Amino acid sequence: MARLLVTGGAGFIGSNFVHHVVANTDHHVTVLDKLTYAGNLASLEGLPEDRVRFVQGDICDAAIVDELFDQADSVVHYAAESHNDNSLNDPRPFLDTNIIGTYVLLEAARRHETRYHHISTDEVYGDLELDDPERFTEQTPYNPSSPYSSTKAGSDLLVRAWVRSFGVQATISNCSNNYGPYQHVEKFIPRQITNVIRGIRPKLYGRGENVRDWIHAEDHSSAVLAILEGGRIGETYLIGADGEKNNKDVVAMILRLMGLPEDAFDHVTDRAGHDLRYAIDSSKLREELGWEPRFGDFEAGLADTIRWYRDHESWWADAKGATEAFYASKGQ
Ligand code: NAD
Ligand code: DAU
Repeated sequence: MARLLVTGGAGFIGSNFVHHVVANTDHHVTVLDKLTYAGNLASLEGLPEDRVRFVQGDICDAAIVDELFDQADSVVHYAAESHNDNSLNDPRPFLDTNIIGTYVLLEAARRHETRYHHISTDEVYGDLELDDPERFTEQTPYNPSSPYSSTKAGSDLLVRAWVRSFGVQATISNCSNNYGPYQHVEKFIPRQITNVIRGIRPKLYGRGENVRDWIHAEDHSSAVLAILEGGRIGETYLIGADGEKNNKDVVAMILRLMGLPEDAFDHVTDRAGHDLRYAIDSSKLREELGWEPRFGDFEAGLADTIRWYRDHESWWADAKGATEAFYASKGQ
């Protein structure tokens, strides 16, 4: 039994990870989360109180971070400002949370000699051409495009520096696009599903040719646990499930699964600097740690996700209006 501190555990991937840890280990979890617009305590409902404790707080607050590191054996750091479109509108919170917040955690990991796992994104590598036969590997040079991805890249580099300069016991993982339950309705897949539920036509940026490499959040969680348990200190592991799809095909699949014609969507203003394609080669993780994704069938995972949003309207209803008002103001 170990004591895990999970930052951002009331967000999409963090809450999926907490559910996964409770179901698959006997670890005790403390969640540290600021509950920004993206955090939702309802995502942690149903978890046993003797296994999961919630603390509301900011990762930039060194005092609360220090206190919680003192009580933890390992830390998994999910907390972030995570949405590219928001980072184009107002980059400042991305610098505060993603850069300064990571710095505060690393200093605590250094003081307490705590095992630290850093959650990052494939977006740090920039984007690929549609016909590029290469995929991202741990050796791909960093080349982030957006304020969001540049702050994630900066946070990864801080981790590497704290490992080398101060001997912090850290690992890093860079994962591709996640889908599944508890994802905020600002993101592509839940936005389109909840649009259809509300009778709004799905919105596709630009021509819809951009490719994302989809992985179920549950597979991301099992990979993170494998790295936490068996990953080599100082190493980076890419996490992906060979799930490349272009946005137009994903929208068509959502519409078909929800009983509508595949072309019942609108093209809207494209995202500035929109990355064309992400694709992950996760051979290192699979060969070194024996990890395999279990949700290989994207259409079945998407159908489950649609069911989840239909069954949990109270979870997302409050956020939907403000999210659509923001997009409407941007012509999206
Ligand atoms: P999210 O936006 O759904 O959740 C972020 C959580 O962090 C929220 O609960 C929020 O309240 C909390 N938070 C934000 N600022 C905080 C602060 N200063 N202090 C404490 N808590 C704070 O994000 P997500 O999609 O779950 O992403 C989680 C992590 O995974 C991020 O680091 C992101 O970069 C990374 N990631 C996401 C994806 C994806 O597809 N969503 C893919 C790869 C990596
Ligand atoms: O690759 C990992 C990254 O995936 C994570 O680091 C980010 O935190 C996460 O938000 C996600 O970034 P993306 O920008 O790829 O995800 P998003 O859901 O915003 O958009 C996915 C694709 O869909 C992208 O090509 C933009 C497009 N899109 C998005 C929205 C919201 C649309 O076409 N229409 C939309 O309404």
